Amino acid sequence: MPDTLHIAELFPDCVATACRPIGQSAIDLFPQEQELIKKAVDKRRSEFAAGRACAREALCAIGFAPMPILQNDARAPLWPDGTLGAISHSHTWAGAAVTRSPDLSGIGLDIETIKRVNLDIARMVLTQQETDFYAALPDAEKKQYLALVFSAKEAVYKCLSPVSAIRIGFKDAIVQQTDGHTFEVFMSGRIADALPACACMTGRFFLHEGSVFTGIVLGA
Ligand SMILES: CC(C)(COP(=O)(O)OP(=O)(O)OC[C@H]1O[C@@H](n2cnc3c(N)ncnc32)[C@H](O)[C@@H]1OP(=O)(O)O)[C@@H](O)C(=O)NCCC(=O)NCCS
Repeated sequence: MPDTLHIAELFPDCVATACRPIGQSAIDLFPQEQELIKKAVDKRRSEFAAGRACAREALCAIGFAPMPILQNDARAPLWPDGTLGAISHSHTWAGAAVTRSPDLSGIGLDIETIKRVNLDIARMVLTQQETDFYAALPDAEKKQYLALVFSAKEAVYKCLSPVSAIRIGFKDAIVQQTDGHTFEVFMSGRIADALPACACMTGRFFLHEGSVFTGIVLGA
């Protein structure tokens, strides 16, 4: 497996990214970060460390020296003042995306291993419109579709977390694949009324060796 993966295509140019496989090399954490995972199992330690390494690499690309990246009460990463970002890890990959652009107010990144997505989550994740589309798909295509929609909604959740005080649920977003690398997200009236900028957003995705990678940003 390569020691990095290029995920910049998921975002506009003002976003710096990094992506690396989990568990392939030793990663130093700051003591404050080690404290956050002191009770975690090895798998969680590895994914956390790989995510932090990606975050530091991406922050370095926009001018920040290595620093601890702690978390808020909702477990979202605490980025340096004036920056925004997101971290994700799948079974295999960890990635991070950050920006200091004043043109953005949210960033979402998500990575899912397609074969690990359980079809049983369809009822929890899909709206009625998505369920109708899903039901009409050939069985062989169902898992990839569900993985994409699930990943897109996880990315949306992270993207809106800095700006939305309202709890957002899976049924608050309808995801429609537009072409082979973009999707649109239509938020429910409940969310769009509170946050008009997110009523309709466009995200990007790609598939790589059995994983789906999704990225989305919210304008300022
Ligand atoms: C928070 C959540 C999005 C994490 O996603 P996940 O697929 O389980 O895990 P990922 O590996 O992709 O992401 C984990 C990272 O997300 C980040 N994260 C955790 N909570 C977060 C939050 N509230 N806001 C933003 N980022 C968060 C962290 O960086 C975490 O990694 P770390 O603990 O190593 O720092 C998920 O647990 C969740 O709550 N999902 C609900 C999504 C939802 O309701 N969507 C509907 C919107 S349409």
